[in-house]
Amino acid sequence: MIRLQKAASPLRGGLSVPGDKSVSHRAVIFGALADGRTRIMNFLSGADCLSTIDCFRRLGIAIEADRGSGEVTVFGRGLHGLLPSSDPQELFTGNSGTTTRILCGVLAAQPFTTILSGDESICRRPMRRVIEPLTQMGAEIVGLRQENCAPLRISGSPLHGITWRSSVASAQVKSAVLCAGLYADGASTVIEPALSRDHSERMLQALGASVTTERREDGFYITIEPADRLSTRDIEVPGDISSAAYFITAALLVPGSELLLKNIGVNPTRSGILEVLRRMGGDITALNERNSGGEPVCDLLVRHSALHGTVIEGELIPTLIDELPVIAVAAAAAEGQTVIHDAAELRVKESDRIASVTENLLSMGCRAEAAADGMIIEGGRPLSGALIRCRDDHRIAMSFAVASLIAEGETTLDNERCVAISYPDFFADMASLRVSASHPRS
Ligand code: S3P
Repeated sequence: MIRLQKAASPLRGGLSVPGDKSVSHRAVIFGALADGRTRIMNFLSGADCLSTIDCFRRLGIAIEADRGSGEVTVFGRGLHGLLPSSDPQELFTGNSGTTTRILCGVLAAQPFTTILSGDESICRRPMRRVIEPLTQMGAEIVGLRQENCAPLRISGSPLHGITWRSSVASAQVKSAVLCAGLYADGASTVIEPALSRDHSERMLQALGASVTTERREDGFYITIEPADRLSTRDIEVPGDISSAAYFITAALLVPGSELLLKNIGVNPTRSGILEVLRRMGGDITALNERNSGGEPVCDLLVRHSALHGTVIEGELIPTLIDELPVIAVAAAAAEGQTVIHDAAELRVKESDRIASVTENLLSMGCRAEAAADGMIIEGGRPLSGALIRCRDDHRIAMSFAVASLIAEGETTLDNERCVAISYPDFFADMASLRVSASHPRS
């Protein structure tokens, strides 16, 4: 439990947020499958990425992690070098959907059987979306307690290339099929209704795999050719825009604020939040735009702004899916109505985020309504401090910590420890910006 107070002064200063979660996972996964050593700089030492490291160690990969420097070294054993996990036989993916689903794709191609399990939330989340394509490729995947949920028993096989039309735009599904496709007997194609984050495609290409993306009338076609090997490459992980999102929003909401967020990954398949907040009136300037490790990166200068409501829907949704809870907080502070459509995926994240966001906004005095695939938020009413139910969901805890900055009175988060999933130092970083409020940036 943590008690938070309204910001008494502007947020000012500079901040480097931790490394990107999605890129950190992939750097370990592809590093493990590559031939030789991969050095990963600015790795995110959050619980989810540590679950990925733990699983690959159990699959026989040596991985050195230096928490102090944020450097991780993966000693890859090649596409055919993984070993069956023995002690314990079961791999535990914790709270991490990315670890669970992408590992399904890797394990589908291994000549051994693995049991994959995770925490209570993971065992509720839908796995059919990866079971179906991987089964069609030739693997056998069985839900041990419930048909389409973890724990899963995965028996790998020689795989066939497929063309798979995914009903959801999901980078986890796409990446699972791409991983399996490395081992298939022909090309594999995933068709997505909208383009989800493309970190796997970028990284696989950089390691020598053949991956192409084509936009057609009926969707995005992502095709991978089977590979004999992946080469190695050192990877510099950009700062996570999903973590920066909390401070971008905080700076926009707290009067007088001005923050410089350094080294933020702004891959267009991830940066929809910037488009939406700018459309809402947010003053956000990209500085020092550059490329780092195959990903676009910049610094973001954010100044307090008066926001107004907007409509968020369609192809933009996958580019900001994890940021919708904090965008909803921005919408609560904005003048007028914000409507979010096409975001039914929020219902199957770490928590049902449509329910958790609307419930907590309502308890802070905001008029918010849940819809099957989104929400409607009537902004502009003052927020008041409340007891926030985080539902063990890191993004709910951090979003409502931001809301607390503009809420009258005290806001209590029922369990703030879940921020360790993606941003272990979140509250310390937030406190540092409050402290430096009295020392404006020169
Ligand atoms: C992720 C993909 C997204 C996202 C998740 C991370 C990834 O999930 O919500 O936090 O790293 O591939 P979906 O693939 O379910 O959309």
